[in-house]
Amino acid sequence: MGKITASITGVHGFVPEYRLTNQELETMVDTNDEWIVSRTGIKERRILKGEGQGTSVIGINAVKGLLEKTNTNPEEIDLIICATVTPDMFFPSTANLIASGVGAFNAFSYDVAAACSGFLYALTTGASMIESGRYKKIIVVGADKMSSIIDYTDRATCIIFGDGGGAVLLEPNEEGLGVVDSIHRSDGRGGEYLNMKGGGSCYPASLETVQARQHFVYQDGSTVFKFAVTNMADISAEIMEKNNLSADDVQWLVPHQANKRIIDATARRMGLDDSKVMMNIEKYGNTTAGTIPLLLWDYEQQLKKGDNLVLAAFGGGFTWGAIFLKWGYTK
Ligand code: UT7
Repeated sequence: MGKITASITGVHGFVPEYRLTNQELETMVDTNDEWIVSRTGIKERRILKGEGQGTSVIGINAVKGLLEKTNTNPEEIDLIICATVTPDMFFPSTANLIASGVGAFNAFSYDVAAACSGFLYALTTGASMIESGRYKKIIVVGADKMSSIIDYTDRATCIIFGDGGGAVLLEPNEEGLGVVDSIHRSDGRGGEYLNMKGGGSCYPASLETVQARQHFVYQDGSTVFKFAVTNMADISAEIMEKNNLSADDVQWLVPHQANKRIIDATARRMGLDDSKVMMNIEKYGNTTAGTIPLLLWDYEQQLKKGDNLVLAAFGGGFTWGAIFLKWGYTK
């Protein structure tokens, strides 16, 4: 028997209907379409509206679509991992809610909190469990309802983020398809520059935390930008070197969608031209843990079995990482 790897055998995404355009943002804060497009590449983002609608709504829709298109019975699912920093509530975990929402009653499930790198962290974790031989069907979800923690009076953050996410199915493979290698890092000293202070055990919700706007994302954009550009490019180059991959060997870069300028710098460092770089930031903005599965969903029709993909992300924590994987199927 060959070595067991964890292959992606299906992907599906979900974005809410409502489109928050740059033009609408111009009516809310002092900003303009030209600034947003030139600094970030974003034209619009999706917003999940409606009372009581949390991140699990995104996850449930994505996973239902995934089960349907892969002809998978939800009761066969062993594990659901959901990467998110905007859980429906502290507990039960969003993954618990997704599992019951899709009828995965034999699965265990839990959340992973690693901000924009969350999907990559969760994918490596899920892949390792498949490689162990103990589990056969694992779903990894990356989803965030960023609009629930964004201050729509703060032009430095409200133009960037949106709601959405996606899910992949992982299954054992003996042809070497799926996750080949991964490198992950974290540095809590970065928490100073990108965080949400209120509502946790340090500063539980109070009148003071609300008045100090501590239940919203705080970001020192230019500092985060500097760390993101360097670390996302470095770790992508590192995974290529470690696996003896030249630019010609890589069919696709699948980069976290935080800022088009960070993505361009990463692609340049890897020696890839734009045609090999997945990009959808213009229509969804930064959906945090949602960006990478949403890219795989949008580009699914163009992917071929055996394609070499490098997935890369940088985000709050700081957290960052890169995964080298061989795509599992041709549509
Ligand atoms: O995904 C998680 C990790 N996050 C990231 O990777 C995000 C990294 N950071 C960024 O993408 C960028 O730093 C931003 C897009 C957030 C900001 O772009 P920037 O080029 O770093 O701009 P800046 O913050 O240095 O601000 C430049 C100028 C400032 O004006 P002055 O001081 O030069 O007069 C800002 O006040 O742009 C101003 N500005 C805006 N102007 C119009 C800041 N936000 C806006 C805005 N509209 N929305």
